[in-house]
Amino acid sequence: MSDPYDRSHNLPMLGISQPTRSEVLTLPDIHVSHHPVVQCKLTTLRDKRTLPPEFYRLVKELGVLLAYEATSLLPIQPSPIETPLEPTIGSQLLGDIAIVPVLRAGLGMAAGVRQVLPDAQIWHLGVRRDEHTLRPVEYYNQLARAKNLRVGFIVDPMLATGGSAIDACDILRRLPVPHVIYIALIAAPYGVRNLRKAHPHVPIYVAAIDERLDERGYICPGLGDAGDRQFNTL
Ligand code: PRP
Ligand code: URA
Repeated sequence: MSDPYDRSHNLPMLGISQPTRSEVLTLPDIHVSHHPVVQCKLTTLRDKRTLPPEFYRLVKELGVLLAYEATSLLPIQPSPIETPLEPTIGSQLLGDIAIVPVLRAGLGMAAGVRQVLPDAQIWHLGVRRDEHTLRPVEYYNQLARAKNLRVGFIVDPMLATGGSAIDACDILRRLPVPHVIYIALIAAPYGVRNLRKAHPHVPIYVAAIDERLDERGYICPGLGDAGDRQFNTL
């Protein structure tokens, strides 16, 4: 059987220098989850024996867990309610929150993030990277219809060169969405550095920062192609 990751004729990262993991870990507003459950689920996700139904389920569950961490600073307002015993003052999230899944691979994560933020608006964003140049290509964007968003969570399992993430952040900041937060499962140091430089004020939440990109632009050790493994299109 041919190797779906063999693009030996096309090596866009060949000769490009990349920062190390420890170099990017010192950059500001980079949040790597150290939660043991996250790390164990991520291990099963990386395993090449994990088949698409389980892979999709794990992406969704990791979406829930990372959303829990990435939402920890969302502002709340007092919300008066009555319990069966007496009135009390509870809390309510401020509204106008969006989840922006980067298609296709962001779909599974967005389903998980939505469990944490059930009232959020979902604005799909079609961005794929050209496998020859690794540049992002936008193919679906309805965000011009979004009105008065206050917070936007961009979700995509893989932060590789950072091209797709930077494009997604550019789109939200232009609207403008005042608070943009980026959530991924696995990042390459090269993508973290590029995203941090292009958007210094966007917090980056990830489950892991891996070693490097290979010459084809895949994250190593990574998990392979997150879209194909979720949707059984390898
Ligand atoms: C993958 C991934 C990111 C992008 C990351 O999507 O889900 O969107 O690549 O790479 P980058 O950081 O170098 O831009 P892909 O283009 O494979 O599309 P897919 O989700 O439809 O499979
Ligand atoms: N996109 C993926 O799905 N995997 C990678 O390793 C890099 C980009």
